[in-house]
Amino acid sequence: MSNNELSFWKRIIKSLTKANELGQEEDIMTDHDYDGIRELDNVLPPWWLYGFYITIAISIYYTIMVFADPENYNQENEYVAEVATAKAEIEQYKKDHPELYDDANLVALTDPADIAKGKELFASKTCTACHLADGGGGIGPNLTDENWILGGGFKNIFNIISKGGRPGKGMIAWEGTINQKERQQLTSYILTLKGTTPANPKAPEGDVWKGE
Ligand code: HEC
Repeated sequence: MSNNELSFWKRIIKSLTKANELGQEEDIMTDHDYDGIRELDNVLPPWWLYGFYITIAISIYYTIMVFADPENYNQENEYVAEVATAKAEIEQYKKDHPELYDDANLVALTDPADIAKGKELFASKTCTACHLADGGGGIGPNLTDENWILGGGFKNIFNIISKGGRPGKGMIAWEGTINQKERQQLTSYILTLKGTTPANPKAPEGDVWKGE
């Protein structure tokens, strides 16, 4: 930087701060003295003061607009409009990603990798705490027998994992914490438990499921 530029910046800084030269401090020293801490009577720095004026101007503008144009300058309307926009965006996203959100066309997966993932999720998502690792049941019903409380088959099982069981029974809705693909893998895994013999099978609950 040349000397000229330097002094240019110095002048700008000076005009924005209006700081006093160190040598002048004695002139602007007030007589306030708190345990030896003294106070300089500096002017408010212009950069701060202008910022303050700007906020005053903005507040006046908004105060006027809130009365002049209550439709647009209204927090509630703004909120409602933003929520509506966000909902539309969510709907659009769901449309663009049917594989993630459209449950209607889901079927059981047969790829061993998916079944293995389902088994892993069954343990990691704490399903085993209530249904036991071999699906024999405990707090939750036996998942290996022919009987289903809320209907067997892919659709019903997927649905109960997603939406939960009857209120108060302990089977919560998992759709908020387990994504669709993983719920599909879990369901596919549970279907493979049919006919296996768990160590301590819980007595059958519900009706024998004859459907798909
Ligand atoms: C806190 C205990 C608990 C946990 C954890 C739990 N369940 Fe359940 N589950 C239950 C109970 C209780 C029921 C019976 C619900 C009813 O009677 O309405 C049930 C029902 C079910 C059913 C339907 C059984 C039928 O006969 O209709 C399936 C499938 C199932 N759970 C899968 C899962 C999966 C998958 C997980 C893990 C993501 C899981 N559960 C986690 C307690 C639990």
